[in-house]
Amino acid sequence: MIEFDHVSFAYGANHVLQDLSLSIGFGERVAVLGGSGDGKTTILKVILGLIKPDAGRVLIDGEDITTRDEEGLREIRMKFSMVFQEGALFDSLTVKENVAFCLREYTHLSEEDIDRKVRDILSMVGVEAAMHLMPEELSGGMHRRVALARSLAAFDPKMFLYDEPTTGLDPINADNICRLILDLAHNGKGYIVVTHKVVDALKLAERFLFLKSGVIFFDGGREELMTTADPDIRRFISELNYGTDTHGEDFPS
Ligand SMILES: Nc1ncnc2c1ncn2[C@@H]1O[C@H](COP(=O)(O)OP(=O)(O)OP(=O)(O)O)[C@@H](O)[C@H]1O
Ligand SMILES: [Mg+2]
Repeated sequence: MIEFDHVSFAYGANHVLQDLSLSIGFGERVAVLGGSGDGKTTILKVILGLIKPDAGRVLIDGEDITTRDEEGLREIRMKFSMVFQEGALFDSLTVKENVAFCLREYTHLSEEDIDRKVRDILSMVGVEAAMHLMPEELSGGMHRRVALARSLAAFDPKMFLYDEPTTGLDPINADNICRLILDLAHNGKGYIVVTHKVVDALKLAERFLFLKSGVIFFDGGREELMTTADPDIRRFISELNYGTDTHGEDFPS
């Protein structure tokens, strides 16, 4: 269970999260929606202890992580598998070495076992053929898959965190990534997916959080989402009527 208890955070005078309280179970499938700069990525960073709130507490499995040191936070981070918005592969390492890096970092597997596991994971996300390529040689969709593979490599997380996993991808690749996310959740593991795309959010989530200027102004299920009278949300979901996505367009403000 993830709990935010009156969490506030600011970058200087920019109040990114304002008195945020919420709880999310590890098995939930949650989409966090909102406009650019509204604090979506910040929420994920707070969960991982990469950002310390200025006020409030963050409880993971009932433990306050805001008072933990780096070593204590490492243990918390192992509960999550995070795929960052930028995908952030190491430019100077091949696809294979990018994935192997995490295994070397977090496990004591032999080189032979690492090699086998890397192949397994890469084939799972459908990029085994690209194993020896450098990140710059990959398409956007492949890059995203390798980033997913890398985050899966090291350990068995309790929950997945995805930051804009489909933004910038064509509809087919975006759909493939959504399927992958659903596959990875097959054993009841939940995820939080941050996205601009309501089409993908609807494919993935059962619970929807809308964030605006650091405040959650909607928290509900599919039914409530589709029938809400809130004009901002109605504008946001109106893209569904066109059967297309917004190509990363911002949340209307
Ligand atoms: N390292 C930083 N230093 C200063 N300000 C930052 C930093 N990172 C983010 N911000 C600011 O904090 C606010 C929230 O950023 P955040 O990355 O959480 O937004 P977001 O909702 O994820 O946006 P996007 O949809 O564009 O990814 C923005 O106003 C942003 O400019
Ligand atoms: Mg972001």
